[in-house]
Amino acid sequence: MVELARDAFVDGRWQTTNRRFAVMDPFDDAVVAEVTDSDDALVELAIAAAARAFPAWRRQPAPVRGKLLGQMAQRMLADEKRLAEICVRENGKPTKEGIAEVRYAASFLAWFAGEAERIYGETIPASDAGLRLTAIREPVGPCAVITPWNFPYAMLTRKLGAALAAGCTVVAKPAHQTPLGTLAIAQIAEQVGLPPGVFNVVPALDGPRVGGKLVRAPQIRKISFTGSTKVGMSLMRDAADDLKRVSLELGGNAPFIVFADADLDAAVAGAMVAKFRNTGQTCVGANRFILEQRIADDYTGRLCKAIGKLVTGRGSDPGVDLGPLIDDAAVAKVKRLVEDAIGKGARVLYGGAPSGKTRLVPPIVLGGITSEMQLWREEIFGPVVALRVARDEQEAIDLANDTEYGLVAYFYARDGARQVRVAEALEVGMVGVNEGLVSAAQAPFGGVKHSGIGREGSRHGIEDYTNLKYIATRI
Ligand code: SIN
Repeated sequence: MVELARDAFVDGRWQTTNRRFAVMDPFDDAVVAEVTDSDDALVELAIAAAARAFPAWRRQPAPVRGKLLGQMAQRMLADEKRLAEICVRENGKPTKEGIAEVRYAASFLAWFAGEAERIYGETIPASDAGLRLTAIREPVGPCAVITPWNFPYAMLTRKLGAALAAGCTVVAKPAHQTPLGTLAIAQIAEQVGLPPGVFNVVPALDGPRVGGKLVRAPQIRKISFTGSTKVGMSLMRDAADDLKRVSLELGGNAPFIVFADADLDAAVAGAMVAKFRNTGQTCVGANRFILEQRIADDYTGRLCKAIGKLVTGRGSDPGVDLGPLIDDAAVAKVKRLVEDAIGKGARVLYGGAPSGKTRLVPPIVLGGITSEMQLWREEIFGPVVALRVARDEQEAIDLANDTEYGLVAYFYARDGARQVRVAEALEVGMVGVNEGLVSAAQAPFGGVKHSGIGREGSRHGIEDYTNLKYIATRI
């Protein structure tokens, strides 16, 4: 196994406590590393370091901040094999997806390296001839960044890149299942010479304890969280006590609509990405397939054929498309959702209910899905395709919007007017039209309804790390 960083990275130093926790390979529970379990004192040191480093970091010229981010991106790419291997071990994803994730993650650092130089203000025409009005963007301050296990690199860099580019400092708390990738990025930050305290990492087994500490710390001015809607809501309630800024990337329940005029082969190719990326463990995963009646059987046949070619296994084995789910709770959830659907009348069109004996869950296709089934309401986070038929366009839209979530929707259609009509009617933050992968560093990622607040990536992502300051100058 590659050389791993295992300690907390605080104030530019690798620090430890007298406690460690095991990071395990989700495939076989082999211990990958024993990592420092940050206690309250260490978290406080990290918060203090981020607060101390902030005034000097924000004063650095934007090109200097951008250059360091650019160097971090380059180092990630130069080291992509090693970084991907870490990700495969701690997350379980197939090697090809590990490599794709490292590139995706580096693209956020590269993007924000450029955006650092484009944090523009405004000049505002005044109604008084003796006044000059301007508005400038300033960094919000030290930020807490709380990241999930499904994309350990990308969910970090999407936040870290924007924060550092804006002139904020960061305390990162990675998911306890996958702290090694975040620590590897801290190593890279150290190598490129990021000043001490600008980026701190406090791994911990008890995420809520550390999250609670971060959200209550008066020095922390913003919380950025990717994870479940339940935890996001709780963080927002706590952040309200101190009026901290929040960015929340929360759960999804994405519809994937295939209209009768769609290119069905393209819709199959899109579904394979939208559904099976990271073994279905993405918040942008296609959760509910809605097929227009006329093509439903044809599309289902083509989709099952493509699914039949997927290989499930250990992520590091050659040719594997689907790795293990992250833990036993994830397998149990998929099992519950599948059993509930079958119990309420869903038909198994491909595969079978997971045995629960290993964390490898082969793909399952279920037809005859109804609104009463739990998987219609809940994020599946696994390789389960849930198919439902709609009579026409309006019913497809109504079904797609029948959820409290609103992260992303996908649909396939050739008709240009329909493309505009449907994209506008869907209650989501992002839409893939004839496209199964919308995520990109240049694009605003985020949801509406219970899927979150704020946008990450793009020029909008950086705004979330700035305050607008208005200055009226009498001349
Ligand atoms: C997520 O699943 O949390 C993010 C996926 C992405 O950025 O594409």
